[in-house]
Amino acid sequence: MPDISQRALELGTENAFVVLAEVNALIRGGKDIVSFCIGQPNFPTPVNIQDAGVAAIRGGKHGYTPSAGIDELRQAIAADIQRTRGIEVDPADVVVGAGAKPFIGYSVQSTTDFGAGHEVIYPNPGFPIYESQIRANGAVPVPIHLRESRNFNFDPNELADRITPKTRLLILNSPQNPTGGIIPRAELEAIAEILRRHEQIWVFADEIYGRLVYDGEFASIASLPGMLERTIIADGCSKTWAMTGWRLGFAANRKLAPYFTTWITNTESCASQISQWAAVEALNGPQHDAAMMRDSFHQRRDLIVGLLNQVPGVTCLSPGGAFYAWPNVTEACRMVGAADSETFRKRLLHEAGVAVLADIHFGPRVDGEGQHIRFSYAASNDAIENGIARMADFVERNTVKSAAAA
Ligand SMILES: Cc1ncc(COP(=O)(O)O)c(C=O)c1O
Repeated sequence: MPDISQRALELGTENAFVVLAEVNALIRGGKDIVSFCIGQPNFPTPVNIQDAGVAAIRGGKHGYTPSAGIDELRQAIAADIQRTRGIEVDPADVVVGAGAKPFIGYSVQSTTDFGAGHEVIYPNPGFPIYESQIRANGAVPVPIHLRESRNFNFDPNELADRITPKTRLLILNSPQNPTGGIIPRAELEAIAEILRRHEQIWVFADEIYGRLVYDGEFASIASLPGMLERTIIADGCSKTWAMTGWRLGFAANRKLAPYFTTWITNTESCASQISQWAAVEALNGPQHDAAMMRDSFHQRRDLIVGLLNQVPGVTCLSPGGAFYAWPNVTEACRMVGAADSETFRKRLLHEAGVAVLADIHFGPRVDGEGQHIRFSYAASNDAIENGIARMADFVERNTVKSAAAA
């Protein structure tokens, strides 16, 4: 039997999909589970966008497009970047892809050389595909730790300490998966100040949750003096317009756009033409459905954070954006006798019927930060109320048991 490459054997993954498969198997087996695992809106794509997709199918938009995307969409994206970030971007600097995700790999591939010791700094905890793509592309992963005490930001001094002559890329994600944290403008300015001393470093600004901000304002590092040229702005339709399955994302950077385009020619050729026309409507059409979904996530954020803080042994900061809550369950683990957040997660799933992810699904636990689990609160109010009630009951039941046993 021929061998599998070491690279494929070691390829990282998104554990949300692994846990989801486990949860679905339990549900198929008849178990009643409230799931907070998967990071996607629980709304249908707005009807005007669906109609644009249908019109594209009926209108014969069936063929390949240029690898960088159709002009109409690239123009709509450039206009949107201007509107949302106050940045002038030429449509020629915009590249459309099958989601924002592929641009993580393309960015690592376009800014580092395989096996050359080039370093990429990325947030921990963070979206697991960052580390996976850094490793798969032969670069060196350098995690920078997000701190609860800093509202899930990293300390800029730690960034300064991690930069070496080999650093090629810094990945930023705001609003953030999994903590829901936001990098405020003042922090971005401190980061930019450090980067200005290191001309060799690109920035991958993952702004896929940029429109889902509930406290303060969304700021892009690309809008700060001197940062646009070196920043890859990555965004897409998945989260804002409930279009995860349409697979439509984009990235903007003048120097890298031609290289991203060539990567796409080498891989998927182009994003689905049907999805591209739907995305034109998403960006240029009425925004009331997107606003309704955003307001709904905001209201659910308040609901879930309020409820989580009433669960014995749990504290939860109010995340500024995205649709994730990242409660600290250190004390709850102790109370129920769970060795760590992963044991706690498994027991929550099997004993309480509540599916969440554990901190270790987003990178190694950070010393001194305690134990966390992640809720995706893109779920109904009923699911949130029911799920957190089950969790509270689980903690109370098991605390009583261990107190009685003591
Ligand atoms: C931080 C982050 N970046 C990128 C993505 C990928 O989004 P897309 O569906 O556009 O590929 C996700 C999806 O969960 C995400 O959480």
